[in-house]
Amino acid sequence: MKVRIAKNKQEFAEFAFEEMIDVIKNKPDAILGLATGSTPICLYEKMIEDHKANRTTYKDIHSFNLDEYVGLDISNDQSYVYFMNDNLFKGIDIDKNNTNFLNGMAKDVDKECARYSKLLSENEIDIQLLGIGSNGHIAFNEPGTSFDSKAHKVDLQESTIKDNSRFFESIATTPTQALTMGLSEIMKAKKVLLMANGKNKADAIYGLVKGQMTENLPASILQNHPNCVVVVDEEAGSKL
Ligand code: F6R
Repeated sequence: MKVRIAKNKQEFAEFAFEEMIDVIKNKPDAILGLATGSTPICLYEKMIEDHKANRTTYKDIHSFNLDEYVGLDISNDQSYVYFMNDNLFKGIDIDKNNTNFLNGMAKDVDKECARYSKLLSENEIDIQLLGIGSNGHIAFNEPGTSFDSKAHKVDLQESTIKDNSRFFESIATTPTQALTMGLSEIMKAKKVLLMANGKNKADAIYGLVKGQMTENLPASILQNHPNCVVVVDEEAGSKL
């Protein structure tokens, strides 16, 4: 596992961008695994900037997003489809038909997760971008999730609902369930890029890099990944 500690916000975005663009330049038809949340926004800004300045094209790129809330329509500005359109896709030339999401409005959730798992088994992700929860979750694989898990429905933990409530009117209106890619599927990516910033991520980053590998800290499974890069700011890396 390679850990890169950024001295400031600019370097944080730059380090992550270097890892991402390296894959895209070497493979213009790469498959990207994408994440939402506040952490990767600075990376997406850089990808848009680069697309505009250097004409990097995404026309042959495909993507798979990690997760989606249950019960939010894609027109809801907190849905992850909306987030990706708003923060990345509208600024680059990706074909929306090449972007894949779990459908949080699906009537038959098990069937929807099986559909996504089948697609993931047929498509090898070249770079999987991840954030990390303050409780060590990756995607929405909460502590206690089996390392063998595939796409599934999750009851979000109290701490995750509280963390996510900053994007909603109140805790009461924050979704309590999500569909997520499983840990075994994340591990199949050729390269993993995990980004984390802020003090509230310091314990999770310590556990990921130096702790014991345990299902109680889902991100620790990445200790077994052959090509994992962790980009942190000084606060998130303060316990290393
Ligand atoms: C989002 C996701 C989550 C977030 C994590 C951190 O697609 O998979 O695991 O990466 O909750 O969120 P932020 O970046 O908002 O701190």
